[in-house]
Amino acid sequence: MAHVLAVANQKGGVAKTTSVASLGAALTELGRRVLLVDLDPQACLTFSLGLDPDTIELSVHDVLLGRLSAGIVVSTTADGTDLLPATIELAGSEAVLLSRTGREHALRLALADLLDDYDVILIDCPPSLGVLTINGLTAADEVIVPLQCETLSHRGVGQLLDTVQDVRRLTNAGLRVRGVLPTLFDARTAHSRAVLADVVARYHVDVLSPPIARSVRFAEAPGTGRSILATAGRSKGADAYRRHARAIAGLSTADEIPARRSPPPAGTPAAMTPAVAVAVPITAQGRR
Ligand SMILES: Nc1ncnc2c1ncn2[C@@H]1O[C@H](COP(=O)(O)OP(=O)(O)OP(=O)(O)O)[C@@H](O)[C@H]1O
Ligand SMILES: [Mg+2]
Repeated sequence: MAHVLAVANQKGGVAKTTSVASLGAALTELGRRVLLVDLDPQACLTFSLGLDPDTIELSVHDVLLGRLSAGIVVSTTADGTDLLPATIELAGSEAVLLSRTGREHALRLALADLLDDYDVILIDCPPSLGVLTINGLTAADEVIVPLQCETLSHRGVGQLLDTVQDVRRLTNAGLRVRGVLPTLFDARTAHSRAVLADVVARYHVDVLSPPIARSVRFAEAPGTGRSILATAGRSKGADAYRRHARAIAGLSTADEIPARRSPPPAGTPAAMTPAVAVAVPITAQGRR
C-alpha cells in the first residue's frame, strides 16, 4: 500500500511544488515506485517535469470528476516518477465539485485503485485552502508543510493546522502532520531561526531537518523539465531532499547515500571506516 503524503501550505511560493518534484526524484533514486499528483490549476509541477499543460488532453481534472480512472491519465516523467498531470481545467473542477456530494473524497477514491502500484504518492496542493487542498488532505496519510521562514509565516501555518483539524474531524481521522519543512532557508540570519522557533513554540509541530537552503540551483531546474536531482545532483539542495526522502522511505541514517561516500584511504581496516554522515539528523525533531 502506498504511503500518501500531501505537501500543503496555502501561502504561495513556499516551495511546495519544488519539494514534491525533488522528493519524488529522490525517492525514485532509492528504488521506490513514486506517483506525483499535480493538484494545482497553475500546473507548475506538470510543467516543471517536462509536460506541457497546454497540450495535455487528459488530466487530474477528468479523474476528479469521475470521467476517467487515474491509471489512464498517469504519465512517466524524465525523472522516472509517474505523474498525474494538471491543466488549467482543474480550476473548473472546484466549481463542479462544490455541487457534488462527497466532494472532499474525489481524489481519495480516485487513488484507491493505484495504492498497490506505488510505494509513495506525493500530492502537490495549490496555494489555497479550497476544495482541492481538502481533497489532497483527505487522500493523505500525512501532510508536510513547507515553510519559508519570514515574518507572518506563522499565520499561514496556524490556518493550515486548523484546516487539518477540520479534515480529521470530518473526512480523514487518521491524517498526521509529518512536520514543517523549512524552505528557502537562510541559516545565516537570526530572523529565519527565530521565525522557525516561534512556529514550533506556537503550534507544537515537528520541524523536519535538514532545512532546505536558498539556492539558485532550484530556480534553474524547472525550465529543463527535470528536478534538481538531475540538474544539480551533487548540490546541497539535492542532498537535503535526498535526506528527507530517506526518512520518508523509512531508511536509517546509518547507510547514508552510498553514491556520495568517499572511499576510505587505501589500507584502512574495515573497522576504522568512518560511519557516514550521521551528524545531520533526518528524523523529525523539536516536538514539545
Ligand atoms: N530552496 C530554494 N532556493 C531558491 N529558490 C527556490 C527554492 N525552492 C524553490 N525555489 C523557487 O521558488 C519559486 C517558488 O517555488 P515553488 O513553485 O516550488 O513554490 P510553491 O509553494 O509550489 O508555489 P505556489 O504556491 O505558487 O504553488 C520557484 O521559482 C522555485 O524555483
Ligand atoms: Mg506550487
